[in-house]
Amino acid sequence: MIKNITVVGAGTMGHGIAHVFARAGFKVNLCDTYAPMLEIAPVKMREELQFMADEGYIDQETVEKTMNNITICASVEEAAKDADYVIEAVKEDMAVKKALFAQLDKICPAHTVFATNTSSLKLNEMIADLPAERQERCMVSHWYNPAYLIPIAELSKFGNMSEEVFQEVYDMYVKAEKRPVCVYKDVTGMIANRLLHALAREAFYLVEEGVGMPEDIDNALKFGPCFRNATTGMLEVADMGGLDIWVAGEDNIFPALNNSDKACSMMRKLVEEGNLGMKTGKGFYEYPGEEGAKAQTAFYKRLIEQLKVSKNY
Ligand SMILES: NC(=O)c1ccc[n+]([C@@H]2O[C@H](COP(=O)([O-])OP(=O)(O)OC[C@H]3O[C@@H](n4cnc5c(N)ncnc54)[C@H](O)[C@@H]3O)[C@@H](O)[C@H]2O)c1
Repeated sequence: MIKNITVVGAGTMGHGIAHVFARAGFKVNLCDTYAPMLEIAPVKMREELQFMADEGYIDQETVEKTMNNITICASVEEAAKDADYVIEAVKEDMAVKKALFAQLDKICPAHTVFATNTSSLKLNEMIADLPAERQERCMVSHWYNPAYLIPIAELSKFGNMSEEVFQEVYDMYVKAEKRPVCVYKDVTGMIANRLLHALAREAFYLVEEGVGMPEDIDNALKFGPCFRNATTGMLEVADMGGLDIWVAGEDNIFPALNNSDKACSMMRKLVEEGNLGMKTGKGFYEYPGEEGAKAQTAFYKRLIEQLKVSKNY
């Protein structure tokens, strides 16, 4: 049974993953090789938990209980030696992740499950040099950012793990209030990012072509397809509408869609000009002064409302 969880890498994803599991009652060890992160991560975790309490999602006692379940560790050895499940959220670099898994294989007990939060790397390549028994306990567990507000966790079910071990991990995610999704093939981008970028390609293209201004495209998504899909999946919606209607529509619309295999050139130009979005004050929109920070806070508040409502989905 999984009791002790280790999160390696306390950056954007790792610190959030750590407090989600800790809130569900697991003992979590969190480590990072960058020493200042060992100070930054607990502050961020407490801030995020406090935000959840302030928004009425958890009570104040849960903030303290959760923090008490987290131990910050200065080394991977200390963090992972008693782990039942290790999830890595280090740099998206195959060599770094392979070296970490090799190190963990020496540190961890035989039963420990290794998970990677990779967004784009292949599991098979990542675990190729591990002993066969360990390969049977390795998986992708892909979260979305911010980890504590977006319920999805994509879990690989590529056939290398026994049903029993997979089920144990799946149940652990359910206990942590995540909405696990099984992914059966090791395809680039798993499921969620493929869906996201299919939609994003068309959204950016429509702006580039002048079909709509950025706010028109965003409003079309927020109050059209994404409004509906936040409650009901694409395949469910298709069944409701009638598959004959969808076939007729797609035969007409598919030939007109963008099918480029490169990122949108308008966005590439913005990047080349140093306009990276909120972090530089300008992207598709402009964020003078405090506007970026305000937009970010408003975004988190909307997400937590969505998280509350999604319990009914
Ligand atoms: N940021 C996102 O939106 C997002 C979403 C889903 C998945 N991911 C994936 O999650 C992983 C982490 O991304 P991130 O955005 O959190 O990165 P990040 O750069 O914010 O954090 C990575 C942390 O790992 C630490 N680290 C590096 N090597 C280490 C090692 N060997 N041992 C311990 N700590 C180490 C770094 O010091 C850093 O603090 C990547 O694989 C990324 O593709 C990111």
